[in-house]
Amino acid sequence: MKTAIIFGATSGIGRALTDLLVKEGYKVAVTGRRKEKLLEIKIQYSNLVEIYQNDIQEVGQVEKVFFEILRDFEKIDLIVQSSGVGHINPKLEWEKESETIKTNVVGVTKLYDLAYNLFREQSFGHLVGITSIASIRGNRGAPAYFASKAYQKAYLESLYIKTKTIKSNQVFITDIRPGFVDTAMALGDGIFWMVSLEKATKQIYAAIKKKKRVAYISKRWAIIAFVLKIAPAWLLKKAI
Ligand SMILES: NC(=O)c1ccc[n+]([C@@H]2O[C@H](COP(=O)([O-])OP(=O)(O)OC[C@H]3O[C@@H](n4cnc5c(N)ncnc54)[C@H](OP(=O)(O)O)[C@@H]3O)[C@@H](O)[C@H]2O)c1
Repeated sequence: MKTAIIFGATSGIGRALTDLLVKEGYKVAVTGRRKEKLLEIKIQYSNLVEIYQNDIQEVGQVEKVFFEILRDFEKIDLIVQSSGVGHINPKLEWEKESETIKTNVVGVTKLYDLAYNLFREQSFGHLVGITSIASIRGNRGAPAYFASKAYQKAYLESLYIKTKTIKSNQVFITDIRPGFVDTAMALGDGIFWMVSLEKATKQIYAAIKKKKRVAYISKRWAIIAFVLKIAPAWLLKKAI
């Protein structure tokens, strides 16, 4: 049986991917802080899902939970890192910046490293990071969130380059970059090109199956990414 871990499965993209992976025949380990949400998933799927409460900001906890899952599942085929926070923070309040860095940078790095090292040892496995279109450039409203996503993007690219040293060629790294998906996380007002959770999840799963290096969700965000990459900073300052 194929096995997967979803970090950040208690709501939004992680929750919807859990449903899809179970449907596709995976046994799934799900994590998040909210115990009641984890229990709901367990009640729904019984022995097809195992639940593990964790706070990704606590790297010791991440490591403990990771090895508990590995002990229970014995091998892991797929790890999806979907946990994350984002704050609109124009006043640069430290609490918000700090929570974003601890979650999206420190916790996620710990997880990426655990996943990569496991897959190197196993000689197979697929790490999928849910980053964002926000990874491409800076932003005045949510600097820590945008910077954290740029960090994730660069880290995943580094891990991808590192897979060169794994002889089996069976370790894959995918960077999923959503634009706006209809979840609690969708930041800000006047949101455009918002896609439903169902559509986003289907596109993410299709990218996972194809073992894509990078996928924009929905696909049209690739055009925005292209424009953002070539736009000078003075233009961004005027436009966004
Ligand atoms: N929705 C969008 O428009 C959009 C766009 C681009 C990128 N993304 C990215 O997609 C990912 C998923 O977001 P979403 O839209 O599905 O939002 P969401 O519904 O708010 O899901 C966030 C998930 O992260 C978990 N999480 C947050 N802090 C955590 C912590 N300290 N420890 C463990 N788990 C934690 C939450 O679980 P608990 O609260 O139970 O801990 C929840 O399961 C995020 O990385 C986000 O940056 C979303």
